[in-house]
Parts: sequence; structure tokens; C-alpha cells
Amino acid sequence: MPQLLLLGTTGQVGWELQRCLSTLGELTVANRQPSAGQQYADLADIDSLYRLIRQVKPEVIVNAAAYTAVDKAEEESDLAHVINGTAPGVLAEEAQRLNALLIHYSTDYVFSGEKQTPYVETDPVNPLGAYGESKLAGERAIMDTEATALIFRTAWVYGMRGKNFLLTMQRLARERDELRVVADQWGAPTWSRSIAEATAQVLSQLLAPSMKNTLKNYRGVYHLTCAGETNWHGFAQSIVQHGERQVTVHPITTADYPTPVRRPAYSVLSNEKLTATFGLKLPAWDTALRLCLEK
Ligand SMILES: NC(=O)c1ccc[n+]([C@@H]2O[C@H](COP(=O)([O-])OP(=O)(O)OC[C@H]3O[C@@H](n4cnc5c(N)ncnc54)[C@H](OP(=O)(O)O)[C@@H]3O)[C@@H](O)[C@H]2O)c1
Repeated sequence: MPQLLLLGTTGQVGWELQRCLSTLGELTVANRQPSAGQQYADLADIDSLYRLIRQVKPEVIVNAAAYTAVDKAEEESDLAHVINGTAPGVLAEEAQRLNALLIHYSTDYVFSGEKQTPYVETDPVNPLGAYGESKLAGERAIMDTEATALIFRTAWVYGMRGKNFLLTMQRLARERDELRVVADQWGAPTWSRSIAEATAQVLSQLLAPSMKNTLKNYRGVYHLTCAGETNWHGFAQSIVQHGERQVTVHPITTADYPTPVRRPAYSVLSNEKLTATFGLKLPAWDTALRLCLEK
């Protein structure tokens, strides 16, 4: 059984990963506020990462921890940069030293959103804010090492825990009869469980003994989102349709709902590389939403 180290299980993706990865090996879990049986790791405290990794000696490191407050990152750009930019590079250096595999997550917000067809991995990046910049710095820090690292860029993540658009819309739909939601930003809502399941499937392929000598070939960035596309208004409508109350969702523009950081107008990610490499296709966003709400 390989030793697996998972960081950030209090988050949406990390929470789902904990369940999905436990069948693949001996799983050690680390958080900055560890519960019983967990290890301590704070991505803002780089020494804690060295200590943990040198103690656990994992064969696989999965990093689901990140600074994810997109607007607040403008005021805390140094902290966001350490957590999202510096720490992933340290994880990669340590993975390289141990000959371990690193799985890391990045974001559609590395793109500026001017395209009108799905972004591929090789498209030029140009983040619009400090969060996107910090995530891009993390990608680069990882790729500057020679670690066998896979970076999964995902998008519009939701699930039944944490802070996310689904839970916000459900709350607002209980409180109000009418909602106004932005209809000119396009993307692919992605269920945290779909991300975790796809990650586990990739890992189970890569951990097969026959892969040992070719693992390095899989190093790189992959787009990993649910299929299809919608805008926040379409996503909100689907959410309220599954609810019990009649709520009208009005489309508005980004200009009607200003935020400290501009979001990409279009950040749909093509998953073709993931499919071609691992034979994997994530469910359509609305199918995944239905499954999430049924559970
Ligand atoms: N959410 C999205 O819409 C979205 C979109 C695109 C990409 N992504 C990427 O997907 C990945 C997973 O995101 P998510 O939505 O699951 O994030 P999330 O729900 O916000 O969870 C973030 C996790 O990181 C942990 N964390 C934050 N700062 C930390 C620190 N200094 N040291 C250790 N742990 C720390 C949090 O722990 P605490 O509970 O202690 O705060 C939590 O476990 C991230 O890489 C994110 O950038 C997310």
C-alpha cells in the first residue's frame, strides 16, 4: 500500500478526496487545525511542510489546500502568494527529493476570459487578480522543479459543505422570492465529488506497477471540470428548480454586480487532454448538480 499524504481536508475538494483516496493506500491527512488523528500543516508556515513530509515520507502528495478567497486576496496578496505560490513549490521540491508523485489543483482564473471557445492547457495565461496570480505562481513553482507533478485546473467548485455558490443560492432562495444573478460570465460548475473521483481514477492508473518507468511522461497541467457550460444565472436557475419554493431568477450583467476583482467573462476549460490521456470524462455540470442535490 503506498503512503499517501493529503492536505486540506476541511475544504470542499479535500473533504471528498479523503473518502476517495482512502482505498488507494495508507492515507495521512494534514490540516492547519488538525482534528484527532490528523497531522499539522500550515501552507503559510513553510517549515511545517518540510517537517511533515520528512516524517511521513509519502509516495503521493495531494494538495487540496489553498487560499481561495478571490476578493480578499487583493488585500492579502502576500499571504495568498505564500500559500498558493510558494508552498506548492516546496511540496514539489520535496516530492522530487522523495521521487513521489504530486497532485495539485489550480484554477480557471489563470485566464483573462477573452476567448469564446474552451481554453486548452497551452493557451496563454493572464490572471485578472491577485488570487489568479498566486495560483499561477504555484503552477510555475511546481513546473520549475522536476517533480512528477500533475496540476488539475478546475473551476466553479461547489458541494454540500463549505462556502460556495450552490449553498449561497439555496440560502437566498429560502429567504427571497426573487434573485438577481450575473448572466454574462460563462464557465462549468464542477462538483467537488466529481473532482475527487476523477483524481482517484487518475491516481489508480498512475499507481499501477506497470506505470513506474513512464510516470514522468504524465507530468503537466490538465483541465478537469464537469462537462458543458453555463453562466451563473443558468446555474442559479437549475439550483432553484430543484428547491421547494417558487423563486424567480433575473439575469443581470457584471456591471450590475461589481466585485473587487474582475472575473473572466468566459473560462470554460477543454478537458480533451484529460480524456485523451486517462480516458476520463467528468459528468455534464447539470447531471452532477442533480446527483449532488439527490445525495
Ligand atoms: N472553489 C472554487 O470555486 C475553485 C475554483 C477553481 C479552482 N479551485 C482550486 O481547487 C482547490 C480546492 O479548492 P476548494 O474549493 O476545495 O477550497 P476550499 O473549500 O476553500 O478549501 C480550502 C482548503 O485549504 C485550507 N487552507 C487554507 N489556507 C491554508 C493554510 N495556510 N494551510 C493549510 N491549509 C489551508 C483550508 O483550511 P481551513 O478550513 O483551515 O481554512 C481548506 O481545507 C484549490 O486549489 C483551489 O484554488 C477552487
